[in-house]
Amino acid sequence: MEAILSQYETVALNDVKVWFKAAPVKDFPIDGGVCVKYKEKQIAVFNFQLNNAWYACQNVCPHKMEMVLSRGMIGDDKGMPKVACPMHKKTFSLETGENLNGDLDAIATYPVKIEDNFVYIGFSE
Ligand code: FES
Repeated sequence: MEAILSQYETVALNDVKVWFKAAPVKDFPIDGGVCVKYKEKQIAVFNFQLNNAWYACQNVCPHKMEMVLSRGMIGDDKGMPKVACPMHKKTFSLETGENLNGDLDAIATYPVKIEDNFVYIGFSE
C-alpha cells in the first residue's frame, strides 16, 4: 500500500524536468478525466471546461488504493476545482490535492500544459 503511494509526489511547476507528451487534446472528454501512464505511474488528467483549465493528479485514491480517480466526477467547492472518487465519494482539491471531506492524505498533483493541441504533464523525473 505504502509502496504504491510513495510513487506519487506533487510536482510544482518550478520543479518540472520532463514534460511528458500524453495525448492530443481531442482525446480528453470535456469535463471528464482520462488515465495516462507514465513509467510506473497512473495519472488522472482532467479537462475542466468550467474553469477553462487542465489538472492532473495521481489516479490512485488513498482511501482504498483503487485506481479510479480519472473516472471521478469533477466539480467545484467554493471556487476550488475538485474530483470526487467514484467509489465512496471522497473529494480532493485538484489544485492542492487536499482531501476536502475527510482526513485522508492529500493526493499528488502535477502541472499540465497544452501546446500545439497536445496535452503535456510535468514530472520531476
Ligand atoms: S476508494 Fe476512493 S473514496 Fe473509497
